[in-house]
Amino acid sequence: MPTPCPTIAVFDSGFGGLTVLRALLHRIPGAHYIYLGDTARLPYGEKSQMTIARYAVEAARFLASRGADHLVIACNTASALAMKEIVAAVPIPVLGVIEPVVQMTHYKYPLAETLILATTATVRSHAYRMSCEARGLLPIEKACPLLVPLIEEGWTDHHVTREVLRIYLKEALAVCSPSVVILGCTHYPLIAPLVRDTLRELGCNAEVVDSADATAFVAATAFAALADATTSTRPPTFECYATDSIEKFQRLGSNFLGQPLPEVHLIDLGG
Ligand code: DGL
Repeated sequence: MPTPCPTIAVFDSGFGGLTVLRALLHRIPGAHYIYLGDTARLPYGEKSQMTIARYAVEAARFLASRGADHLVIACNTASALAMKEIVAAVPIPVLGVIEPVVQMTHYKYPLAETLILATTATVRSHAYRMSCEARGLLPIEKACPLLVPLIEEGWTDHHVTREVLRIYLKEALAVCSPSVVILGCTHYPLIAPLVRDTLRELGCNAEVVDSADATAFVAATAFAALADATTSTRPPTFECYATDSIEKFQRLGSNFLGQPLPEVHLIDLGG
């Protein structure tokens, strides 16, 4: 008898979380995926904890009501500031992106001086700092608020993005010499080559890591019910929802996912 297909919901404030979905598709191909990007209320990264938690809980409830068996919070900002509220709000296992990437960094580079690039809200929460320190990593956090809008604009290899990134990295490298740089925001994997080049130009040879693959790896092992889906030859299926900007989501989302997107449905989660 064929095993039932698990449904994995992936939530992000926008379409950046498609980078996490891409990694999940690779690690757990035999699942049904529901993706939700709360594009109407993006960016979360500049908002207060209370607002981020309220938005994230509404999104999580929507995804649970669509029949999700597991929920992956691809948004670093929601993972940093709203995990407790999300876990309390839905009756399904929930995985954020911070613990997986910090665990992987600790495993590969124990005791490393680690620079974390993230949104303002993620940095203010110090969720990365606490998680790194608990494992003996030496964290330095750097907020890079201008990067999300530039990447949202599709400017992933634009001279303005290069210049902004150079300024942020120069400021960070003035106070640390990291051997690892964590891209602590869903959007930053799209400029990973730019981050690597700029670090090299500034004389830093740090490894650049992101949470997408680490999270997919942990999801495949932590959600035991997904074991069959990791080896399945059945192709994954998708449903995609956004709260605004369907046309932009459809146009830019495929860059994040690395393949064409299915039809994106517009939903309203409230104000
Ligand atoms: N998804 C957010 C994160 O990973 C970035 C975009 C936003 O600020 O909403 O932190």
